[in-house]
Amino acid sequence: MPSREKFQSPTGMHDVLSDDELYFQKIEKICENIADFYGFKRIETPILEQTELFERGTGFSTDIVLKQMFSFRTRGGDYLTLRPEGTPGVVRSFIQNGMINLPKPVKLWYSGPFFRYERPQAGRFRQFHQVGFENLGVKNPIVDAQIIQIFFNILKELGFKNLIIELNSIGDSECRGYYKRILATYLRPYQNSLCADCRQRLKQNIFRVLDCKEEKCQKITKGAPQIINHLCEECHNHFKNVLEYLEELELPYQLSPYLARGLDYYTKTVFEISLSENEPMAKEIGALVGGGRYDDLVKILGGKDTPACGGALGVERIVSLMKAKGKKIYSAEKPQIFLTQVGESAKKKSLKIFEELRKEKIKVVETFHKDSLSSQIKIADDLGIKYVLILGQKEVLNNEIIIKEMETGKQETVKLEKIIKEIKKRLK
Ligand code: HAM
Repeated sequence: MPSREKFQSPTGMHDVLSDDELYFQKIEKICENIADFYGFKRIETPILEQTELFERGTGFSTDIVLKQMFSFRTRGGDYLTLRPEGTPGVVRSFIQNGMINLPKPVKLWYSGPFFRYERPQAGRFRQFHQVGFENLGVKNPIVDAQIIQIFFNILKELGFKNLIIELNSIGDSECRGYYKRILATYLRPYQNSLCADCRQRLKQNIFRVLDCKEEKCQKITKGAPQIINHLCEECHNHFKNVLEYLEELELPYQLSPYLARGLDYYTKTVFEISLSENEPMAKEIGALVGGGRYDDLVKILGGKDTPACGGALGVERIVSLMKAKGKKIYSAEKPQIFLTQVGESAKKKSLKIFEELRKEKIKVVETFHKDSLSSQIKIADDLGIKYVLILGQKEVLNNEIIIKEMETGKQETVKLEKIIKEIKKRLK
């Protein structure tokens, strides 16, 4: 017997229904314009990549790789993973397609779905969308400031005001080694008081203990030595320059000495942008943007030494906050013309007129499935249409059409071949 069970979308994965699509489109449009202005070219990489790309790229010891990947073996025996984030895929493509030979920097942006096996909650889904910007080939700190500015500008253009940029430097592989030893010395006496994950992190990636969200761990890390005080000269100067550029740009940053970010590839600058906690839902939703410099990743993934910096924003989190703030989104361009028809010959003729209007890019609504004129006019009225075109048997015979102005009720009969010109004149 066929099952009568109703199908549901998978846990943590949602349909983006038409009303939400308007928010998605608005965000993407703003990102597209900003990308164009700052000279970023769009790239699309596959949704599936070899699992090892994320293991080596995102990092073996990260929560993403340890707990959150949707991985499977294909029928052909390849081990693949639904991309949990965009940076490793972009870097793989940079290497694979010889982009190293392009003039530097290579600036790329992307937008699309990502997948993490998380516990679904506000702002945290198993399928979500990100827009990311990656700048490859330049080690100058001005790039870090510009990446932060790009995301800040996107959020500003979306109407967010109380934004907070949290900033830290986690040094490079050299100064980090030294700092890790200092941190280990500090944390060792507390190891039994840390959460189970952090006890594991002590062995695998001690850095990650710093941004654990567990209260008991945060109490301990509050007094931990800060990496910012242990940077080598180069990393120190790099960070100082980033801060100077941000000040020049008047961007409201705050130093977050324990911001480590959950991905292994970062070097030097790391940042997150969120909405002030006083704003509705801001605390539950968390960071809207995350990013940083990743000077070693291209090399780690088998390419030539190439400094890089980037970030990504979470579309669903932004949409939730826009809604929480009561931001209504414009609906798509409102049609002003409505085509009505009465009788079989008029119905046939109106099919052609509809196509002619489309070719002229005149937005028009039809109700070909309706027969009665009054019910068609009622729909046009409900939609707030400005002009209704009426085509009846008589008009078809005389090669004419009626234009009715809805507000005044005024009607004018015009020759069919002049209809485009007449409409354009009225819509001017
Ligand atoms: P991330 O911080 O993991 O960084 O993600 C960036 C943003 O994606 C977050 O700030 C958040 O808004 C959103 N996000 C992350 N996970 C979820 C989720 N489960 N549900 C909803 N939204 C989520 C990266 O992914 C890096 N690839 C960013 C980057 C680019 N760094 C350098 N270049």
